[in-house]
Amino acid sequence: MPDPTSATTCEAVVVLAAGQGTRMRSATPKVLHRVAGRSLLGHALAAAAPLATGATVVVVRHDRDQVAGHAQEILPGVVVAEQDEVPGTGRALWCGVAALDAARAAADLPPLTGRVLVTCGDVPAIRSSTLAGLLSADPGAAVVVLTAVLGDPGGYGRVLRGDDGSVVAIVEHRDATEDQRAVAEINTGVYVLDLQLCRDVLPGLPAANAQGEQYLTDVVAAAVARGLRVGGVVVGDAGEADGVNDRVQLAQAGARLNRRELERHMRAGVTVVDPTTTWVDVDVELDQDVTLLPGTQLLAGTRVGPGAVVGPDTTLSGCVVGAGARVVRTHGSDAVVGAGAEVGPFAYLRPGTDLGERGKIGTFVETKNATIGAGSKVPHLSYVGDARIGVGSNIGAACVFVNYDGVTKRASVVGDHVRIGSDNMIVAPVVVGDGAYTAAGAVIRKDVPAGALAMSVAPQRTVEGWVAERRPGTASARAALAAQDDDPRHDPQNPQGAHA
Ligand code: UD1
Ligand code: CA
Repeated sequence: MPDPTSATTCEAVVVLAAGQGTRMRSATPKVLHRVAGRSLLGHALAAAAPLATGATVVVVRHDRDQVAGHAQEILPGVVVAEQDEVPGTGRALWCGVAALDAARAAADLPPLTGRVLVTCGDVPAIRSSTLAGLLSADPGAAVVVLTAVLGDPGGYGRVLRGDDGSVVAIVEHRDATEDQRAVAEINTGVYVLDLQLCRDVLPGLPAANAQGEQYLTDVVAAAVARGLRVGGVVVGDAGEADGVNDRVQLAQAGARLNRRELERHMRAGVTVVDPTTTWVDVDVELDQDVTLLPGTQLLAGTRVGPGAVVGPDTTLSGCVVGAGARVVRTHGSDAVVGAGAEVGPFAYLRPGTDLGERGKIGTFVETKNATIGAGSKVPHLSYVGDARIGVGSNIGAACVFVNYDGVTKRASVVGDHVRIGSDNMIVAPVVVGDGAYTAAGAVIRKDVPAGALAMSVAPQRTVEGWVAERRPGTASARAALAAQDDDPRHDPQNPQGAHA
């Protein structure tokens, strides 16, 4: 819980997310589009919600159910406010404050007094520390606006300041005069406002502007008219305030967040060989001396232990990689790779894979719901599904754990220090005991006791001369003939080689 006495908290947070997002041209609501492992709304909530001591409100309208459901999933207890048909950011905040007051009244609680922090659901890069800085900057002001100074301020609301440096008004680009458009300081759309001022001013906001909307920005002039002070804080990194209105800006926001995460990890001792092709979601944890090789994507929930090397060309989601492990050209989700283990190249780790310390899942191996014990190896061309393999065992090349009979999935167990021969079918449910061996090409349908050798022997039958007789004139037949000519045992009078 935030400390209610601290100047870096506020009583309520309101996230505006009722806009339509037409320019995304998408069936998905704009604020539900994802970058760096979270939705745009998720980023906004993650930065702002921890600063509220009382309540967090999300204002919705378009795609109401989807957006509200998503907000409740991220932040149970969030107050969902529905904006009515009156358009504009000012109306949106009013609907948010009204819903907050109604929720408090329904719970027999007095209305909140104090300050509300307002952010936008489509501005994903604002840092929590920036918002905390805004809250502590000017505690006596009725309104504090987060501003940015841009080389190209076109399209944004311009911040007009008085002689004493306080903010006197915000004018939208469309409503601004030529002189006002020359102002480089813009409104980021993030504010701290006195809650009582909101209740006093928002219901009566004018809509006499180019868009016929109730502008939240008009609260500034209203506060000034009441003799209240309005402060403005310039954000240090203007890129934090970049909004997302279309897919081009979505990609830019993703790249910005990624770059920021990579820099944070690099400063903490992670080597990122090629930051331009490495993508790391915001909640990924990387220990010291991790190395990420080019083409690596580490998605939500992944943790990599000290000294591990991941990549090149690897995607891991929800995976835990142990200290000193190596994961090369691999696709993995919800899998565990033990310390010092080796994976890949070209491995596919599906959910429930748990590779023990110093184990190996090698080339063209797919695993699912499989525990592979410490030091055990599945080096080549195999499928291991629904299996438990003990420690120190080796699975030969090209083995399949046959886990599905067409109706039911079943599990198999392989003990410790087992040697499974190449090209085995381990037909579940079956148990291979500790220390057992199986021969090449075995189809293991029955349990193998500890220490036994199991084979399923179909004797090899060889039909001499079959190719010359049944495939005459082919390249194979010619090759066979040439081989016979070179063979000192060959009798040219009897090319069929009748030593049967
Ligand atoms: C707004 C500001 C502008 C600022 C810019 C920063 C106003 C009038 N203008 O302009 O000064 O420079 O943000 O990006 O506030 N929303 C609602 N309900 C609505 C309309 C919008 O909830 O009826 C939400 C949107 O979902 C969005 C946010 O408010 O999250 C901003 O709305 P948008 O339409 O993008 O405002 P801008 O025109 O960009
Ligand atoms: Ca916008």
